[in-house]
Amino acid sequence: MIFTETYTVVPRDYVIAGDASRKIKQILKKIGLDADVVRKASIAAYEAEINMVIHSYGGTITLEVGEGRIRMVCVDTGPGIEDIDKAMQEGYSTADEEAQAIGFGAGMGLPNIKFNSDEFNITSSKAGTTLEIIINLPD
Ligand SMILES: Nc1ncnc2c1ncn2[C@@H]1O[C@H](COP(=O)(O)OP(=O)(O)OP(=O)(O)O)[C@@H](O)[C@H]1O
Ligand SMILES: [Mg+2]
Repeated sequence: MIFTETYTVVPRDYVIAGDASRKIKQILKKIGLDADVVRKASIAAYEAEINMVIHSYGGTITLEVGEGRIRMVCVDTGPGIEDIDKAMQEGYSTADEEAQAIGFGAGMGLPNIKFNSDEFNITSSKAGTTLEIIINLPD
């Protein structure tokens, strides 16, 4: 492992929302990773973070930069996603009015995370949602 760190995501706080993914972007840039990899990882981390802010009780994002790949594991403490297939569809959203008023809720976050990942896994129960996002580094 070249680098690993865990960032906390606080629910419903739109002032600090985006801080975790901003830190992740800064670190990846500082390590000197490929610009395309930094861009993809930053987008995925941002969408995962905002989802935790809007839809979850809060959680953490753990970044691992290893030989050949970046892995990000996003874990929250509930309430979970009832229908993952539905949640993965473009345009599906349960974002509340407050989130919609500041521009969230297009239902594009999860599809966008998957699009920017080389490997993407999602599991969910009432106890929480876990995303595993893997982005390969170029040779
Ligand atoms: N961490 C999570 N915990 C609980 N539900 C979630 C979580 N992440 C996503 N969801 C559910 O999946 C739906 C789709 O998520 P997605 O990120 O694609 O869209 P959105 O967050 O509603 O809108 P956008 O990301 O475009 O602003 C959400 O509306 C929500 O119902
Ligand atoms: Mg979203």
